[in-house]
Amino acid sequence: MRCVTTYTLRKGSPAKTRTDVVVVGVVRTTKGDLEVATGGEDVAAAYGRRFKPLLSSMAFRGDPGEVLRVPTGDTLPSGQLLAVGLGAADGVTTETLRRAAGTVARSLGNAASVALALPLDEPLRVRAVVEGFVSGLYSFTSYKSGAEPTSVAEVTLLSPTARDADAVAAVEQAQVVAAAVARARDWTNTPPNDLYPEVFAEQVADLGRQQKGKGPKVAVEVLEPEQLRELSCGGILGVGQGSAREPRLVRLTWSPPGARGHLALVGKGITYDSGGLSIKSGSSMATMKFDMGGAAAVIAATFAIAELGLPVAVTTYAPMAENMPGGRAMRPGDVLTMHDGQTVEVTNTDAEGRLILADALAMAVEDGPDAIVDVATLTGGCVVALGEKVAGLMGDDPTTAALTEAAERSGELLWRLPIPEESRRAVVDTKVADVLQANWVRWGGTLYAAAFLERFVGDVPWAHLDIAGSAWNSGGAWGHVTPGATGYSVTTLVEYAAALAAGPTD
Ligand code: BES
Ligand code: MN
Ligand code: ZN
Repeated sequence: MRCVTTYTLRKGSPAKTRTDVVVVGVVRTTKGDLEVATGGEDVAAAYGRRFKPLLSSMAFRGDPGEVLRVPTGDTLPSGQLLAVGLGAADGVTTETLRRAAGTVARSLGNAASVALALPLDEPLRVRAVVEGFVSGLYSFTSYKSGAEPTSVAEVTLLSPTARDADAVAAVEQAQVVAAAVARARDWTNTPPNDLYPEVFAEQVADLGRQQKGKGPKVAVEVLEPEQLRELSCGGILGVGQGSAREPRLVRLTWSPPGARGHLALVGKGITYDSGGLSIKSGSSMATMKFDMGGAAAVIAATFAIAELGLPVAVTTYAPMAENMPGGRAMRPGDVLTMHDGQTVEVTNTDAEGRLILADALAMAVEDGPDAIVDVATLTGGCVVALGEKVAGLMGDDPTTAALTEAAERSGELLWRLPIPEESRRAVVDTKVADVLQANWVRWGGTLYAAAFLERFVGDVPWAHLDIAGSAWNSGGAWGHVTPGATGYSVTTLVEYAAALAAGPTD
C-alpha cells in the first residue's frame, strides 16, 4: 500500500519545529555568496557562523536541483537538515520552487515527517510547492512485485500565509491537480496489453461513477463501434480496424451552472501505435504505449476542472484506438470518410493520430465551443525540433497566446510553431480525395499534421499541442518530472480553464 501524505500549512519557526527533516532553500547572491532563502532564516541563525562553512565543506553550490542532507546534531530540534539549491537569489520563480519541491520529495531518505521552510510568501508559491512535491514523489509500481516504497507521511509547510484563505485553498487545489497529473501518468505508463480502448474507456466511466459530493458532475459517455459507424467516424474506425481490440470514443461533459464560456478538449488516445501496415521498426515501437498520453491528459484535466468547481463548461473528446496491422487493417490507398463528410486519402497508416483526431475535432465543433484545444503525441518531427521537455504549440494567435500564458503559470515548457501556407496547400494536394493524410516529403511533418487538423476545426478558435516529446521522460527525474509518463499538459489545461472561468482581465 502506498503511504498517504498529508499536507499542513502553518505559521512557525523551523528552528522550533520538530520533524525528521527540515528543508531550507539556498540561493547565490550576485557576489557569489551562499545565503539561506526566505523562510529558512531561523535555521541559519541557529547554526550561526557554522552555516556557510557547513555548506562549503560539502562543496554545496546552491545550484537548482542540488540537495544536501546532514544530521543536525543538537543545533535544531529536528534530526536532519536538507538544503536545496534555488540558484541565483534574484531568479527564484514559482517554477524554481515547484522543481525544488519535486527534488526534495525524492531526497528524504526514510523520513516520515518533513517541514518545508522555503520562500512560501504567497499562495501561488504554496500551490507550486505542493504540486511539485506530490508529482516528484510519483512512481509507477503497479507491476513491481515485492514491497511498495514507503513515502513521507506528513509534510508541514511553514508559511506566513497560513491564515490566508487563498493559501489554504491552494494546498487543496494543488493536491487535486497533482492527483490528476498522477492519474494521467498512471494511464500512460500502463502497458498496452492491459490498457486498450475498451478498458481505458471503462476506467474513465468508473471515474465518472466515483465522483463524490452533491454538486454537478462530469457526465461520461462511451461510444462503441456501432455508434461510431452511425456517426460516420471513418477515422476512428479506420485506425481501429486492424486490431482485435475495438475502438471507442469517450465524451465527457462538464456543464456547471453559471459557466463562463465553453471549452472543448480533444486528446489522442492511441493505446498502442505499431504503425499499422506502415509498420514501425522494433526500436521505434518500444515506447508506443504512450501514444494515448493526450487522451489521458485531457480526461484527467477535465475531472480536475470539475473537482475544483471551475465555472467553465468543458466538453472533452478522447478517441481511442489501437493501431495494429491485422488482416482487416486500413491500407495505404484507402479513402476514409470523416465525421464532417470530408474524405481523406490514406498514404501512411502510421500517421494515425490525425485520423482519429479529425473525427473528434469535427464532433467538438458541433458543440459550438468558444475554443478547442487538442493534445496529441502526434509527430516524431516535434521531438526532433523541440526535444523531450518542450511541446510544440500551433493554432490561431489568441488561442495560442492564452495557452502560452497558462503554461507560464503551470511551468510547462512549450514553443509556438507556424502553420505555413505551403503546408495548407500540400494538405489538399490530392486527386483522389478532399484531403491528403500524410505528405510524401518528410520535412516539416509537425506543421503538415497541424495543417491537416486545422481542416477539421472550421472557424472555431483552436490550439494544438504536439506532446510527442514532452509526454515521456526517457531520462532520469528532474524536479517534479519523474521518469516515464510525465502527465504533460494537465496543469496547463487546468490553468487555461481557470483563466477562462475568471473571465477577461482588462
Ligand atoms: N505516435 C507517433 C508520433 C511519435 C513518433 C511520437 C516518434 C514519438 C516519437 C505518430 O503516430 C507517428 O507515427 N507519426 C509519424 C507520421 C508520419 C508517418 C507522417 C511520424 O511523425 O513519423
Ligand atoms: Mn503513428
Ligand atoms: Zn501515433
